[in-house]
Amino acid sequence: MSLGRTVTLLAVASAATLAAISCSSSTDDVFTPEILALPAPIDDYAPLAGFAEMSIPDDNPLTPEKAALGRQLYYDYRISGDGSRSCYHCHVCEKGLTDGLPQAVGAHNKQLTRSSPSMWNIGFHSMWYWDGRATTLEAQVAAAWKGGNMGAGDNIDEKIAMLNGTPGYAAQFQDVFGGPATVENASAAMASYVRTIVGGNTPFDAWQAGDESAVNDAAKRGYEVFQQAGCNECHAPPLFTNMVFHNVGIGYDAATGDFADVGRFKVSEAERDRGAFKTPTLRDIAQSAPYFHDGSVATLEEAVRLMAGGGIANPHLDEKLKDHDLSDAQIGDLVAFLESLDEDCTLSEPALPPDAK
Ligand code: HEC
Ligand code: HEC
Repeated sequence: MSLGRTVTLLAVASAATLAAISCSSSTDDVFTPEILALPAPIDDYAPLAGFAEMSIPDDNPLTPEKAALGRQLYYDYRISGDGSRSCYHCHVCEKGLTDGLPQAVGAHNKQLTRSSPSMWNIGFHSMWYWDGRATTLEAQVAAAWKGGNMGAGDNIDEKIAMLNGTPGYAAQFQDVFGGPATVENASAAMASYVRTIVGGNTPFDAWQAGDESAVNDAAKRGYEVFQQAGCNECHAPPLFTNMVFHNVGIGYDAATGDFADVGRFKVSEAERDRGAFKTPTLRDIAQSAPYFHDGSVATLEEAVRLMAGGGIANPHLDEKLKDHDLSDAQIGDLVAFLESLDEDCTLSEPALPPDAK
């Protein structure tokens, strides 16, 4: 750790010196990573803004340098199987950190079966994917990288060799991990970056903090409806998810009695989990159409009507869901409230280490 810091400080100092004598040609050889401050001081990282505790594994402590390395990897198309995808590609700011498609299309143009979920506050979860099959974020990231999303399963060794053969990356792996890049440490770095994707900067949050003018009256009424209709039981503020699994009936075929996707059942094999999926956050929800795990609903209003109407009837429907018989005005207010959860997305693409010469 102290060695890591020293190396980074030296890199910054030498870059500054070289910038001062800008005619020096050796600047080309020095890659200086952009080190961003963590969302909060690490000893005060959780609870942020009243969020639940974020549990960060002891074997992958979060440091600004590691998150900076992870951020570069997260934005780097070179690490995908065919060079066509980066992690960010499917989790973009303009789409609420999703991709705007009903179901994602991975590297090698592989059609996937589920919709890209939002990354807001995903570090606070304890089970990942719509069905929660990953129980560490590090494992989730490695799976996303090697599996259909990034498609690097067949040539992962080549990707690791590329990282170790790229001087800007090799220096950072040495600095952060004290050795060369591996699937494990690169995934650990990306997981660290993902933990820094913390939301909480919305008009709703400003209103909750006391600014009455931050949201309009429709949104304020909508928040009342949200609570009266019990939406907050699953989409619990301030994360707007309880991070567990419920059946709301999406993908149920009444004719056959089957679910197109059994969801959590595949992991738990418990009958009550058939067709259950992890409650998604509603932060940035107005940006992340289409909706639900299969992207089957095009607009936010339709999604709200479906949920307020008690979901889609099926034998495993969660008992918390019922038809609240809301008026059009109440539905409109609910949508206005959800629009007040638009996050101010300040994520940006970092400079990436140049290819080896
Ligand atoms: C082709 C689009 C695509 C790419 C590229 C992609 N993802 Fe995803 N991501 C998805 C989809 C789709 C899911 C949900 C899959 C599922 O639930 O089975 C997902 C799920 C996730 C989750 C879990 C979210 C939750 O709610 O539990 C995380 C974290 C994540 N991705 C991070 C990454 C990282 C890190 C990378 C790069 C290594 C990456 N993604 C690359 C589409 C993509
Ligand atoms: C029993 C728990 C539960 C309750 C109560 C609940 N939801 Fe949900 N909600 C979920 C789950 C689980 C999903 C994802 C289902 C899927 O994709 O299969 C979801 C999905 C959504 C989505 C789509 C999110 C996305 O990213 O695609 C919206 C919008 C939504 N709910 C709004 C509401 C509103 C409004 C209410 C109140 C009227 C409500 N929900 C009540 C659990 C719940």
